[in-house]
Amino acid sequence: MKRILSGINPSSTKGLHLGNYFGMIKPAIDFQNEGECFYFIANVHSLNLVFDPNDVKNNTMNIFTEFLAFGIDPQKTVYYVESDIPSITYLQTILNNTVTVAELSRMHGFKDKLTKDADIQSINAGLFSYPVLMAADILAFDADVIPVGEDQSQHVEICREMARTFNNRYGDVLKIPELFIKKQVARVKGIDGERKMSKSLGNDIPIFAEENVIKKQIMSIKTDPARIHPTDPGDPNKNVTFDYLELLEYDKEKLIEMKERYKKGTIGDVEIKQILYEVFLEYFKDMRSKKDELSKNQDYILELRRKGAKRANDVAEKTLQKVKLAVGLS
Ligand code: ADP
Ligand code: TRP
Repeated sequence: MKRILSGINPSSTKGLHLGNYFGMIKPAIDFQNEGECFYFIANVHSLNLVFDPNDVKNNTMNIFTEFLAFGIDPQKTVYYVESDIPSITYLQTILNNTVTVAELSRMHGFKDKLTKDADIQSINAGLFSYPVLMAADILAFDADVIPVGEDQSQHVEICREMARTFNNRYGDVLKIPELFIKKQVARVKGIDGERKMSKSLGNDIPIFAEENVIKKQIMSIKTDPARIHPTDPGDPNKNVTFDYLELLEYDKEKLIEMKERYKKGTIGDVEIKQILYEVFLEYFKDMRSKKDELSKNQDYILELRRKGAKRANDVAEKTLQKVKLAVGLS
């Protein structure tokens, strides 16, 4: 049986958004019927951005609850928090020796930060070694398949390289994982209609936010700029509202009809957005109420976290022992 592993960085007080859901969460939830899943909240990763300890704590529990509300089955899936598994960070230290500074310098996360902040002296080493921690997350569990959105593919590639380097040096110890990207949803566009939807860009539609926040984001979607009046003909390809409706499995016939009306200029943007708003709330209705219900039951959540940690530690400790033996540390 294949082992599937993925994680989410709880680096923001804002919850998960539409891009996270279709790019990573939905494929991960679906995988629960196909193999043995290991899913976790990557809170150690969040330390290179989030410096307030209360934020770290609250974001971790919030994202843990949201991912659960999306349909994690804690009976089947090993569901845990990264910081509860000390073997991961130990393994990271060992894996630091399987990758060069030059290779890490080529990572998008690091390069993006360099272009924005433009000063290499001020970038913390945690960001630089982010891919090594991510490799440790993956390799500690002998994972076969890693479902993520497109922006994470470079990290999984470098993880594969590190595992190969390790195995060349010490024998066949680590499993080389496969990257899994669901093509159609690898990069969900933001409400600016251009860039990747991302919490840090503010172009996201947060799934568990108050209804008025969701509505505000939906009503701010950039549409075909050539269309000034609702009676002007528009190009549906220049209106990301239609893409979202498709993702949310809106009736196909109705969608085609709406696109035709859009081309002819017989439907207004506000009307389309209002439909999206209703479809969105309906689609996520059960998950939103599940989160409310779970949030009221902190004891249950903490118990799940403890149980998940126990199961995950059992696996990761075994891998760490193998690795320590291979390199001469035990
Ligand atoms: P963000 O860009 O909002 O900070 P994260 O980096 O926390 O999101 O991503 C968490 C997971 O969701 C990753 O697997 C990532 O690839 C996926 N993901 C994030 N944004 C998108 C998007 N717009 N389209 C597809 N997948 C996405
Ligand atoms: N870097 C991922 C993100 O930003 C989160 C993550 C950490 C992850 N470790 C991982 C994803 C291991 C897959 C496998 O969302």
